[in-house]
Amino acid sequence: MKPTALVAGNWKMNGLMSSQAELEALAGMLKDGGDADCDVLICPPFTLVSAFASAGYAGVAIGAQDCHAAQSGAHTGDISAEMLRDAGAKYVIVGHSERRADHAETSALVQDKASAVLSEGLKAIVCVGETEAERDAGRTLDVVLSQVAESVPAAATPHNTIVAYEPVWAIGTGRTPTVADVADVHAALRRALIERFEDAGEGFAILYGGSVKPSNAKELMAADNVNGALVGGASLKAADLNGIIEAYR
Ligand code: 13P
Repeated sequence: MKPTALVAGNWKMNGLMSSQAELEALAGMLKDGGDADCDVLICPPFTLVSAFASAGYAGVAIGAQDCHAAQSGAHTGDISAEMLRDAGAKYVIVGHSERRADHAETSALVQDKASAVLSEGLKAIVCVGETEAERDAGRTLDVVLSQVAESVPAAATPHNTIVAYEPVWAIGTGRTPTVADVADVHAALRRALIERFEDAGEGFAILYGGSVKPSNAKELMAADNVNGALVGGASLKAADLNGIIEAYR
């Protein structure tokens, strides 16, 4: 099975109700731009998931950026995967490096969150990535391989789980690894998925994220085992995200 490519926008803590205009513009560009050989997803903040999902923008799935591992209960301020499904989300990002860093999320917790996502019939986007210090110490593969082993649940399949490689030092910095470095990490992730899930390991989409923009998307997306992009800053503007999707037209 060949992975289905995905271009996903992670809006992080950005976006208001007025941002619906960007979604409308994106849907228009997808229609006018012709078929792209990828799925398209926008993950706005929780506050916009329901409005965006119920507005129904053609060609754009809506997802969320995190969830709690439990289905319900005494967790003030948290949101469960069941609530997200109820709000119309189809995907949930888990283990983003900003959550790992800002909220001390461990891979074990990320795996519990991913399991909660899969239990609701949603798709989990499980993020991994090394810091600059880890990279400088030559530990990139060690770090991402242990994160993927510990964060991806046993119930993962190519239909319900996507892996995203996001080097922490490339996020929001305008810096990216070389295409060869990206391909090396993605090849290692692919080997690990095949080792664990056998033939199914071939089918998982592995996204690259970190300073993806229209000008570098084509070469990054062409690298072996890169099956799409997880885009932060450039996903906030429909024209920029559409420029990235162009890599799949
Ligand atoms: P940037 O595209 O802004 O570098 O962010 C990447 C990211 O963290 C997406 O999840």
